Amino acid sequence: MSLPSSIRCQFPALQQEVNGRPLVYLDSAATSQKPQRVIDAVSNFYETSCANVNRGAYELGRRSTNLYEGARTLLQEFIGAEHSEEIIFTKGCTEAINLAANSWSAEYLEYEDVILVSEMEHHANIVPWQMAAERHGARVIPIPVTFDCEIDLDQFESLLREEPVKMVAVKHICNATGTINPIEQIATMAKEAGSAVMIDGAQGLAHQRVSVKDLPIDFYAMASHKAYGPMGIGALYGKREVLRELPPYQGGGDMIRAVSFEDTTYRKPPGRFEAGTQNPADAAGFAEALRFISEVGVEALHQHETEIRIAAEKMLQDAGADIVGSPKEKAGIISFVLPRIHPHDFSTFSDQLGAAIRTGHHCCMPLMSSLGLPGTARVSLAAYNSIEDLNVLIEAIESARRIFA
Ligand code: ALA
Repeated sequence: MSLPSSIRCQFPALQQEVNGRPLVYLDSAATSQKPQRVIDAVSNFYETSCANVNRGAYELGRRSTNLYEGARTLLQEFIGAEHSEEIIFTKGCTEAINLAANSWSAEYLEYEDVILVSEMEHHANIVPWQMAAERHGARVIPIPVTFDCEIDLDQFESLLREEPVKMVAVKHICNATGTINPIEQIATMAKEAGSAVMIDGAQGLAHQRVSVKDLPIDFYAMASHKAYGPMGIGALYGKREVLRELPPYQGGGDMIRAVSFEDTTYRKPPGRFEAGTQNPADAAGFAEALRFISEVGVEALHQHETEIRIAAEKMLQDAGADIVGSPKEKAGIISFVLPRIHPHDFSTFSDQLGAAIRTGHHCCMPLMSSLGLPGTARVSLAAYNSIEDLNVLIEAIESARRIFA
């Protein structure tokens, strides 16, 4: 194992027993556990700096604003954005995609235009585009996925050639199968065809380094809680020249320049897109999570998770599991099915042994349909996992087999 075992003890939730067994947490693609320093950053805000951002001309107001804007600058540097105004805080990755889908579509989407989303998208990167398409009379067309669970680039190229594509929206890492998509290649192809590009980076931040200024993309959506940070905050990166042209998503609060019954005007980005009271407590926690990731190193995290994933896939296959998909580039996520054992039944057995895994469609119903599966069992890895964590799954497979044989 390439990361020090001392990492695990920084996570208080992992120090407990569940159902009489030590907790083995294998569901970090749903949400990661939080190190103590992130929990402390959030509570420290409420203990010392609780005031509304950009409102109070007093010490606590300054602290709150500084924490919030400091988090924005840190995230800007972390993802390699050129300007802090390109970072919009949202309540999560889903809201970030909804913001882009609403504001971008209001400005650019026209009757019969096409939005391409891949068949492996999370519902959060399908439904907002379907809603936008419905409002504007446009169409959402899926890009097929191969049996290996990769985006079919030949079919993508044909769609770009044959359809009036205005937006290509794909995920960076597939939460259901672990596929790491070639986002630079996809974005370059889309741009050559004259399309805008949205990357759903929900699973990206803690697992793959990005430098958004070097990618030909318009938007990159992010979640804090899947990257050791708090729930309730995420962010949308948008290229400066793109954001400047877009109308606001929601109204009220700090997003205005001046309000009157004759003419209301809006702030420039990012303020224009951050209606209502901002979330400085979770922004402080998000920033602390980014510091944690930077100290460990994104590359070291990926290497650690890859070592465990490869060993785990072999253990699971030896125990009779079928691994779903075999993409060339893969993150620390394994989807599998067990002959004659339903994934939900299997998760009951693993839960009894203290292991947390996710089962079902993973919010990717179209992908499951194209694979002909009702769902899968999924293991998703993070800094605190070790190969030993997988032993409990093998124990669960053996228990399930004894019952179902
Ligand atoms: N999208 C989250 C997952 O993959 C909830 O589990």
